[in-house]
Amino acid sequence: MRKAVIFDLDGTLTQSEEGIWNCVRYAADKLGFEEPDAATLHKFIGPPLMFSFQEYMGMDFATAEKAVAAYRERYSVVGLFENRVYPGIRRLLRTLKQQGCYVGIATGKPQAFAQRIIEHFGLSRYFDSIIGPGEHIGSEKDMLIRAALPETYDEAWMVGDRKFDVEGGRAVGIRTIGVGYGYGDEEELRTAGCDVYAATVQDVIDALCPGAVPPSGAFLSIEGLDGSGKTTQINLITDAMERYGYEVIHSREPGGCKVAEAIREVLLSVDNVGMTDITEAMLYAAARAQHVREVIRPAVAAGKVLLCDRFVDSSVAYQGGGRQLGVQRILDINAPAVDGTLPMATIYLDIDHVTSMKRRAAASTLDRMEMEADSFHARTEAAYRELIARDPQRFVVVDATQTPEEIGKQVAQQVLARLMEAEA
Ligand code: TYD
Repeated sequence: MRKAVIFDLDGTLTQSEEGIWNCVRYAADKLGFEEPDAATLHKFIGPPLMFSFQEYMGMDFATAEKAVAAYRERYSVVGLFENRVYPGIRRLLRTLKQQGCYVGIATGKPQAFAQRIIEHFGLSRYFDSIIGPGEHIGSEKDMLIRAALPETYDEAWMVGDRKFDVEGGRAVGIRTIGVGYGYGDEEELRTAGCDVYAATVQDVIDALCPGAVPPSGAFLSIEGLDGSGKTTQINLITDAMERYGYEVIHSREPGGCKVAEAIREVLLSVDNVGMTDITEAMLYAAARAQHVREVIRPAVAAGKVLLCDRFVDSSVAYQGGGRQLGVQRILDINAPAVDGTLPMATIYLDIDHVTSMKRRAAASTLDRMEMEADSFHARTEAAYRELIARDPQRFVVVDATQTPEEIGKQVAQQVLARLMEAEA
């Protein structure tokens, strides 16, 4: 059975107000109008720009034309990309493709802009058609939907966040889903007569592909010496991934679940200075065994991106190198814990042990590991370098002495490229 699914873009696949509002502000400023307030800006999402500039800002036709030109001038260069893919949309699109569906877009945005946005987010491979107003087609939603549909199909759906989408789908004679996470509300969508109301992206998946097994997600880890700035980078890279529609879950080692967090307490408590090296190594592995099974595997199986603050590389570096238990011994101890679950990519925030020492010295309290002598951290650094040399494909190594923004940009670029490659 050939199923076709057509999506609206703004408010359904992408959240685009940031770019729209910045461009309306730019146009207003350029034409000497006062900056529109938040309520006015909100009204600009959805209707045609010519209408909005006249109706909401009191411009005459000729002035509105100039405003639209100013808007486009900024929009075509930067505004276009000031938007986000809703979390879960990638999983939805991958699920539809996995099921052999025909997938298209019918948007009120000029076709060329829609194509550039989809390309920018690395989503082109999921669409069989992208239709927007252009040379050969007007802006009526039903016409756009008809053009986006394949010649033949057994079942077809229009998915959108505004009444125009529902009405357009109904005019074409296909089923409709109104989504409540966009710019329209439930009442508007139900009044327009949608067949299904979906409050979340998951509801859309459930309606279109009931019982589908989600495509698998990804496991990423982040590593570095203490003081390398992992926490800041975790936040920056998460924002970048979420912007692209990935659903990101954070976890950490040692820890990440109840049993492993309890082990973490034991490992890091300064009361336990008498702990032997091999006990320490086995406790890190024990915490990991629980974490892999209880948190990491289920998240990846549910299609999420699990970003873990440290993983087995930390054991190899700290216990293998720092404690001098040896790389192979640590890998052997960890083999049953990890049991083949390894990160698709590992971000390594590269600072040397001297910089690490200086940054640790500035910290208010130190845990049992951080209290170790500098020679311990020097050996840990050397072991990390050995790991990277052994497996250069897996590591994304970034100079962590740069500004956080610069580091974040480099990490995001490389990690996103890998995630998209893995989806292909
Ligand atoms: P981390 O959570 O990065 O410390 P913090 O939250 O204080 O920034 O890591 C805790 C410490 O545990 C860190 O010094 C590294 C160490 N560690 C190991 O020695 N082996 C391991 O396998 C792991 C995961 C961490």
